[in-house]
Amino acid sequence: SQPIPVITIDGPTASGKGTVAHRVALQLRFHYLDSGALYRLTALSALRHKVSLTDEHALSKLAEKLQCRFEGDQIWLSQENVTAAIRAEEVGNTASRIAVLPMLRHALVGLQHSFRTAPGLVADGRDMGTVIFPSASLKVFLTASVEARAGRRYKQLIDKGIPANMDDLLKDLRERDARDSSRAVAPLKPAEGAHILDTSELTADQAVDQVLKWYAAVRKQV
Ligand code: CDP
Ligand code: CDP
Repeated sequence: SQPIPVITIDGPTASGKGTVAHRVALQLRFHYLDSGALYRLTALSALRHKVSLTDEHALSKLAEKLQCRFEGDQIWLSQENVTAAIRAEEVGNTASRIAVLPMLRHALVGLQHSFRTAPGLVADGRDMGTVIFPSASLKVFLTASVEARAGRRYKQLIDKGIPANMDDLLKDLRERDARDSSRAVAPLKPAEGAHILDTSELTADQAVDQVLKWYAAVRKQV
């Protein structure tokens, strides 16, 4: 029988992974995995339980036992709806710090694989194509200039009524890029055979169309 198809969409923060992956999944009626949310859930859990961010063992245990549920666009941790809480800046920063720990990354592998169910999966993150789903039918690496990405984050914050500063955003993006790209385990880089798409000058819908075209071409080959 045919393996369940997977489309991986990796890239740096604010390259549009989440937006594009979600829309591609809707179009194809595939499941969607926001792997960054799993790192954020682990981070939130660590902050709540006051686990030291250098205690790799305890953090991996938290990740292994993560009681999370995804329902549409709502995310639950145990009995609590944490959809908004995991988007907090502190949680994102903590997620990116603990994501360098090999044991913790390993502890989240099984959970990520469990999202691969029929009729297919679109997974976004940093290492979907390189580590988690190396056999994916289509691998995409989204990029955009740091200025374009900071501009998108700026707009997202202002739209939510949150004050934002462009210089701070640029600094934060550069720091996070450096940390994600330079870590020893599962660094951010295009998977072998990945299609690279620079979205600096594209709308989200144009990026979605390109990914769907690539996927249609892949499907024709099998
Ligand atoms: O998941 P990631 O951090 O890569 O990005 P995101 O959360 O999807 O945020 C990207 C933001 O930029 C969203 O507000 C999108 O509407 C917007 N955007 C995009 O995703 N793709 C483009 N080509 C242009 C804008
Ligand atoms: O929205 P943003 O791009 O800042 O982050 P995210 O995709 O929600 O992921 C939060 C953090 O988890 C990232 O900064 C990465 O360090 C880490 N992460 C990872 O290491 N591997 C993944 N597959 C997904 C996220």
